[in-house]
Amino acid sequence: MVQNIQIAVIGLGNIGRNLLEVLLHRRKPIAKQYGLCLSVVAAADSSGAALDPAGLDLERLVEIKRSRQGAASYPGAGRPGVSALEMIRSTEYDVLVDASPTNMVDGEPGLGSVRHALGTGHHVVMADKGPLVLAFAELVRTAEQAGSRLLYSGTVAGGLPTVNIGVRDLAGSAVTRVEGIFNGTTNYILSRMDSEQIEYTEALAGAQAAGIAEPDPTLDVDGWDAANKLVIIANSVLRRPTQLADLQVEGIRNVTLQDLREAREAGKVIKPLALAERQGDDYRLYVGPVTLDADHPMARTGLWDMGVVYHTDYMGVISAVIEEKGPVPTSAAVLRDIVNIYAGC
Ligand SMILES: NC(=O)c1ccc[n+]([C@@H]2O[C@H](COP(=O)([O-])OP(=O)(O)OC[C@H]3O[C@@H](n4cnc5c(N)ncnc54)[C@H](OP(=O)(O)O)[C@@H]3O)[C@@H](O)[C@H]2O)c1
Repeated sequence: MVQNIQIAVIGLGNIGRNLLEVLLHRRKPIAKQYGLCLSVVAAADSSGAALDPAGLDLERLVEIKRSRQGAASYPGAGRPGVSALEMIRSTEYDVLVDASPTNMVDGEPGLGSVRHALGTGHHVVMADKGPLVLAFAELVRTAEQAGSRLLYSGTVAGGLPTVNIGVRDLAGSAVTRVEGIFNGTTNYILSRMDSEQIEYTEALAGAQAAGIAEPDPTLDVDGWDAANKLVIIANSVLRRPTQLADLQVEGIRNVTLQDLREAREAGKVIKPLALAERQGDDYRLYVGPVTLDADHPMARTGLWDMGVVYHTDYMGVISAVIEEKGPVPTSAAVLRDIVNIYAGC
C-alpha cells in the first residue's frame, strides 16, 4: 500500500531547490522501497507562494528558480505576496520543510510557520537553525503536546548524521565529550593555511571564490555558525537546556601561520572545534581554535570535511566524517528526515 505524503516547503534557495531536485531523482525509489508517495503541494520564497493540492510540477518549479524567478510566477498556482504562514494556513499538508534563511534575531520567517505547523499536528523538518537555537524547548514541547514530529538532522554539519548518531544511536549511554567540526568554511580556511602556508586573508578569499564563504564571512569566521550548531547538539543530544549565551565563542581570525607551524612542529594541528566537555553534572561549551594531536580524527579532516567525535561512558569513542562540497547533502538530509518520520526505526 502506498501512503501519500504532502510536503510544504519554505525557502527555495540552495537547500530548498536542491531538495526538489533530489526528490525528482529519488521519488520513485522511495515509493518502491518505503511505500511513500511524496508530493510538494506548497512552496514559498521571497516572492510569495505556489500552491497545488494535486502536487506542483517539480521540474517546472526547479526551472522557475533556476531562471531566477519566484514561486509566485508559477503558472496557474502562483500566489504573489502570500507569506509562508498564510500559505500553510490555507492548504492541507503533512510535513513542513523550513529551508528559509537563518535569522538569529527573531527566527522569522521560519519560527512562526514552524510553531503553527507543530501546534496544528503537522510534522516539521528543518534545515533552518534559527528557530531551534532561539526556541528549542518550546518547539519540542509543542510537538510533544500535538503529537507532531520535529526533525532537524541537516542543521548540524549538513548531510552528516551528527544529531541522529547522538540522539538515536547513543541511546542509553552518557556522552562525556563532543568534539565537532561543524563549520566547513573555517576548516577549509585553516586547512589551506596549514597545508599551503598561506595567510588567513588569502585562504578566506579562496573560500569565497569556492562559494563556501559569504562576502561577509562574520558568522563563519567568528564562530557563530558553529556555536548555533553546538546549541542544537547541547539541547538535543546532551539534553542540556542551552542558549547561545551559555557558550564561550572564539573565531579563527587570530590564528596565525606561526601558530599553525609551531603546532605542526609539536606533532599537532589547530582545528576550528565545537566542544562540549563534561564537568561535574554540567558541560563546558566552547567554540574556537583547538590544538589537537595529529592523529585525532578531527585533526585528519581535509579541506571539504566536517565531522564529529562522541566520547561515551560505555560505547567508547565514535567518530564520523563527511566530505561535503556543496548544499546537496543537506537537502538529502531533509529528505532523510521526511522518510524517517514515516519509515524510520
Ligand atoms: N547552504 C547550506 O549548505 C546549508 C547547510 C545547512 C543548513 N542550511 C540552512 O538552510 C537554510 C537555507 O539555506 P540556503 O543556503 O538554501 O539559503 P538561500 O540559498 O539563501 O535560500 C533561502 C530561500 O529562502 C527564501 N526566502 C527568503 N525570505 C523568505 C520569506 N520571507 N519567506 C519565504 N521564503 C523566503 C529565499 O527566497 P528567494 O529564492 O526568492 O530569494 C530563498 O529561496 C538556512 O537557514 C541555512 O542556514 C544551509
